Parts: sequence; C-alpha cells; structure tokens
Amino acid sequence: MGDVDDYRSINLANWNSRVAHHVSGYALEAFLADPAHISSVVQFDQTRLGDISGLDVVHLQCHIGSDTLSLHRLGARSVTGLDFSQPALDAAGALARANGADIRYVCSDLYDAVEALGVEQFDLVYTGIGALCWLPNVRRWAEVVATLLRPGGRLFIREGHPVLWSLCDPRPDQLVVIEYPYFEVDGGTAFVEQKTYVEHEGDLAAPDIVGFNHGLGEILTAVADAGLRLVSFEEHQTVPWNALGDAMIDTGDEEFALRVMPERLAASYTLRAEKL
Ligand SMILES: C[S@@+](CC[C@H](N)C(=O)[O-])C[C@H]1O[C@@H](n2cnc3c(N)ncnc32)[C@H](O)[C@@H]1O
Repeated sequence: MGDVDDYRSINLANWNSRVAHHVSGYALEAFLADPAHISSVVQFDQTRLGDISGLDVVHLQCHIGSDTLSLHRLGARSVTGLDFSQPALDAAGALARANGADIRYVCSDLYDAVEALGVEQFDLVYTGIGALCWLPNVRRWAEVVATLLRPGGRLFIREGHPVLWSLCDPRPDQLVVIEYPYFEVDGGTAFVEQKTYVEHEGDLAAPDIVGFNHGLGEILTAVADAGLRLVSFEEHQTVPWNALGDAMIDTGDEEFALRVMPERLAASYTLRAEKL
C-alpha cells in the first residue's frame, strides 16, 4: 500500500469498495416495509437526541443514508447528508427516493464541508459510529462542526470509544490487549481488512485503510476550543458492531459488549454540545 500520507485516497477507495456490500447487508428493505422504521443506531440515540422536529440537520459522514433517513423520519425540517464517497451517496439518494424522503446529499471531504455547505446553516450536526476514526486531526473536525452550526445549534455524536480503538483485533484466545495508539498520532495507523463489518462473499476490492484515534481529552478539548459548550458526555458498555469477535456478545438491538465483565470496557460514548 502507499504511504499513510495518502490516507484520503486509500480510505476513499476502501469506502467505495464497501458500498455494494452494505447496500445488501444493512437491511434497507425494513424502511420500505415500515414507514415508521428507524435504524437501530438512531433508535439508540433517540432519547438522548430529544425532539428534532423543525431543525435543519446535517449528517456528516452519512454513508449510505440509513441513519440520515431515520433523522428525516424523526421530523427534522431539512436533512442534509455529507460524505466523500459518491457511490455511498448514490445509494443514499436511491434509498431516500424509494422512501419518498426529500434529503439533500453533498459529496465532499469532511474538512471541506464548510466550503460545500456554508457557514452557520444548521441547528444540529449529527455524526458518529465510525466517523472520527477516519480523520487525522480532531481539532480541525471540531472547527468544521462549530462553523456549520448556528449560534445555539447542537452537536450530537455517538462514537466508538478511543479505548476500544486502541485494542487488538479479535484474537482466538479472546484476550483484549492494548495494541494500537490511544492518542492522535501523525500519519495514523495502516491496516489491511479483507472484510467489512457486514457478512459478504469474497474480499473487499480495496482492503487497505488508514485509521486515526483521538483520546477523550483531545476530543473534549477540541470541542471546547472550537466554541462549543459540553451539554453531556456518557460512556456506554456497548457499541453497534462486533469489534472483538468471540470476546463480545450481542446484547440485543444490534449492540455488542464484552462477553465477560462488560463493565471493564467503555465501548462507545455519546457527546452532546452546544454552540455558544
Ligand atoms: C462507518 S461510516 C459512518 C456512517 C454510519 N455509521 C453508517 O454505518 O451508516 C464512515 C463514513 O465516513 C466516510 N468518510 C471517511 N473519511 C471521510 C472524509 N475524509 N470525508 C468525508 N467522509 C469520509 C466514509 O465514506 C463512510 O461513508
């Protein structure tokens, strides 16, 4: 694979190569079958998210739009999804059209989101579940979020916990071992993953990825320095994918926790903040 400085093109090829597998594996037919269906990710968020009716919402790194459509169904005034993968946005657009939802999709790198969407256009920035780990600099991310929000607007992020992302890949002995950086490091960490996180035949056409971790202190400081006031910060024992193989169990509702003593691990967190 190339130098990790090529992180963006490496990750873009990888995300483009996952789209067809995710369109098959995300159970998108549930949206058509039930006009009230909400993705399991947004169901988890719903009580913490509160009432979003009447808000202009942007979903950053929206992928194939299942959570974006769910936000639309929660009654937002407008919903915009942004992602750097055009194939993902094509799938998201098709999902929205099939379900009669008016959602705007914009293809842009996260760091170019202000140029693509404008300043202070949104009441709510929603993001997470595998979003920050693709971005090399959490301070620049927080500045983008703050610039997109109107004064009084809110950030809502539920994300994999940096402790989870510092852990090893699944091991046959089920040991959970710290293997990767917890803190943000220049260049990130290169991985090769032949499979994505839904079941699929064959290997990914573009298995190389470059991931970036950010410690909790780095995330919280970035949010504060960007001019956002912390409203709540909650750590969860579960995460909505199986990150550790047999060391994790499905706790129901598509959430996974450590099989033994789940209270050992903060697997994800929800952070809510407000622009001053
Ligand atoms: C795990 S998905 C997150 C979405 C959501 N959890 C889901 O499963 O639908 C990560 C998304 O981030 C996008 N992404 C990665 N790096 C990006 C970047 N630099 N700018 C914009 N989008 C990016 C990918 O294309 C992908 O759609």
